[in-house]
Amino acid sequence: MSYLNIAIDGPAGSGKSTIAKHIANKMGILYLDTGAMYRAMALKMLRCGIDIADTAAVLKELPNTEVFAENQNGTQITYLDGEDVSSLIRTPEVSKGASDIAVIPEVRIKLVALQRNIAEKSDVVMDGRDIGSYVIPQTANKFFVTASPLERAKRRLKELNEKGLSLDKTLEQMRDEIVARDKVDSSRSFAPLTQTEDAVFVDTTDMTIDEAVSYVMERIKK
Ligand code: CDP
Repeated sequence: MSYLNIAIDGPAGSGKSTIAKHIANKMGILYLDTGAMYRAMALKMLRCGIDIADTAAVLKELPNTEVFAENQNGTQITYLDGEDVSSLIRTPEVSKGASDIAVIPEVRIKLVALQRNIAEKSDVVMDGRDIGSYVIPQTANKFFVTASPLERAKRRLKELNEKGLSLDKTLEQMRDEIVARDKVDSSRSFAPLTQTEDAVFVDTTDMTIDEAVSYVMERIKK
C-alpha cells in the first residue's frame, strides 16, 4: 500500500510550516517538521561545545546522538537523546547551527532515513528543504513555497517576538540573517534547497495564511 506523501519545501519564513500544519490538520494526517530534526542535531553539538565547522568532531558525536520526532495531538515533539527539546531549538543560534550542520552529508543521511521511514508507513505532510528533491522524490505532491526576503524577515521577527526570543534584532538584521541562511542552504552540494521542475510554486508574499492553505489544498492530488 502506498501512502499520501506531501512535500513542502522552501526557505525560512516562507510560510511552509504554517501551511503544512494546517493541511495536516485539515486532512487528519501526520505533519513532520524536518527542520526541527536538523535543529536538534545542532543543539547537541552546541551543548557539547563542538564547533559545527569542525566536521570531524561532529561526525565523532553523531553515533551518540539520537533525534526522534513524534506527533502529539497535532503538535510535533522533537526529542534529542530522549529529552523533549521542542522549545529549545527555536533560538537564532540554533537556526544558524542547523543550516551549518545540514551541510554535512552523514548528518543528512541519518535524518533522511528516519524521514523516509515515516513516509513509507503513513500519510504525511513533510516540510523542509529537500523533501521533494531528495527525501520523497517519487511523490506527485510537491510544493515550493517562498516569499520576498523582507516579508520573510517580518514573519520571523513576529514569530520570535511571540516566543519572547526577539533579542532586539532590526528587520534589516533579520533579513540579512535569513538571506545568509538561504545562501548556505541553496549552495551546499548535497541535497540543497531547490525547486524541482514538478513542484507547484507558491509565492505567499501577498497571501494570507488561509489563501495559501487553500491554494495548496486545491492542488493536492489524492
Ligand atoms: O523554520 P526555518 O525555515 O527557519 O528553518 P527549519 O525548517 O527549522 O530548518 C532549519 C535548517 O535546517 C535550515 O536552514 C536548513 O539548513 C536545514 N534543513 C535542511 O537542510 N533540510 C531540511 N529538510 C530541513 C531543514
